[in-house]
Amino acid sequence: MKYKSQKVAYWFFALAMLLLALQLVYGFIMGFAHMGYDGLHQFIPFNTARAVHTNLLVVWILTGFMGAAYYIIPEEAECELVSTKLAYIQLITLALVGVAAVIGYHFNYWEGRKFLEIPRPLDWLVVINVLTFLGIILATLFKGKKRTTTSLVLTMGLVFAALLYLPGMIWFDNQTMDSFFRWWVVHLWVEGVWELIMGGILAFLLIKITGVDREVIEKWLYIIVGLTFLSGILGTGHHYYYIGTGKMWLIIGGIFSALEPLAFLGMALFALAMYRKGEKRHPNKIALSWTLGTAIVSFVGAGLLGLAHTLPQVNMYTHGTLVTAMHGHMAFWGAYGMIVLAIIAFSMPNLTGRKRYTNNTNVFAFWMSNIGMLGMTVAFGVAGVAQVYLERKVGMDFGDVQQEIQVHFFILILCAVLFTSGIAAYIYEFVKYGKPTDEAIEN
Ligand code: HEM
Ligand code: HEM
Ligand SMILES: [Fe+2]
Repeated sequence: MKYKSQKVAYWFFALAMLLLALQLVYGFIMGFAHMGYDGLHQFIPFNTARAVHTNLLVVWILTGFMGAAYYIIPEEAECELVSTKLAYIQLITLALVGVAAVIGYHFNYWEGRKFLEIPRPLDWLVVINVLTFLGIILATLFKGKKRTTTSLVLTMGLVFAALLYLPGMIWFDNQTMDSFFRWWVVHLWVEGVWELIMGGILAFLLIKITGVDREVIEKWLYIIVGLTFLSGILGTGHHYYYIGTGKMWLIIGGIFSALEPLAFLGMALFALAMYRKGEKRHPNKIALSWTLGTAIVSFVGAGLLGLAHTLPQVNMYTHGTLVTAMHGHMAFWGAYGMIVLAIIAFSMPNLTGRKRYTNNTNVFAFWMSNIGMLGMTVAFGVAGVAQVYLERKVGMDFGDVQQEIQVHFFILILCAVLFTSGIAAYIYEFVKYGKPTDEAIEN
């Protein structure tokens, strides 16, 4: 690392690892429940497990993004963070709000709006926390010597992500209105501003790892930002097909969301092109694997598997089924899980001064997690198609269908075990690195 204050990033990454591990525990609880083994039902019913699983996911990803920003911004702006003390306070309060929310879910203290289950009073604490974070980042950029395109795209993504949290806090009595604005958060996050954050981190990693000129890499970044906004904003319409909004959304949503894979395709081509152009001399090969991996797997999970159910004619059947879970897993993993693991894999040697670049454990972590996730995606997909057929073509009841498809969850659990072994290896490596040290600062 080049700046002392970059060390803050380590602690955000550590919290992200902890939350990821916890997320998987709740995934298994649900996987077993789907198989018919719902022994914990009295204490952790399915709805609680689901809310905890998805919220922990969002929080570990956001924590990873924050860590990434604390690592990248000083280096790009060429100055120390304005306050590391405030950054640590922000970390601790973030963890406290997260713990409060998760405990609350176990006692039915929640709002029941998928992904936005956090009750309003806690929402305000989130807002204060995120404002503190943005304050530190913006002040650092302002104070710094340079404002690079990479740092600006990353920061823009973070600022918009914070702003877009607000529509989810407006109170409506009407279900349609509530859904309408819930998607401003959920959709415009993952298919809009988070893509900017991903693009910013990806550009940073490619600049460092491939050694290709910044100008070349940042030109691509403009194209990706353009494609993202062009398709993603009106693409929100793919959630408005049958929720009580106007018919026009069938056309708008269908067309624009079908264009969304282009931004992900752009990112995949971008990463591969820079890899081929680069000198390939950077020793951190495992960070390169995660970087190229995120570009490719996000295209498959978000782009292709999103496209698979985005047209209104298809979505009419697949909406809210395990087909959605199929896409949700690979998209979240490929785009946002893997980009966070990529920046961690890249920064750990620099933060700690230990050059544990490529060894059997981290190669195992990369392949096992990806093969496991691919298997899980297929298992969800097969179960989902069976569910759609039985429930929506044959007309069987929801509960009866769930019993019919229990068998698919055996494979899901098997693949989840592979996935988890990969994540366990990744976390083992993380712990092995040890804590960041000032001795790692480059001159
Ligand atoms: C990294 C980017 C993406 C992530 C993380 C992601 C994740 C998700 C998640 C978690 C859901 C379920 C949301 C909910 O029901 O509350 C969802 C729904 C959906 N996604 Fe994506 N997605 C991404 C990109 C895309 C793209 C590019 C497309 C289209 C080409 C797409 C099409 C859809 C559709 C149509 C639904 C609604 C499914 C339903 O009706 O049940 N997604 N996505
Ligand atoms: C041990 C590994 C995991 C297992 C066993 C697992 C299992 C599950 C199950 C059973 C569901 C509920 C599906 C339903 O509604 O019936 C679910 C939901 C979800 N999981 Fe996982 N999961 C795992 C890891 C992950 C990871 C690593 C991610 C993201 C990177 C993830 C993202 C999601 C999302 C976004 C949903 C909501 C999907 C939707 O809205 O339809 N899961 N998971
Ligand atoms: Fe969407």
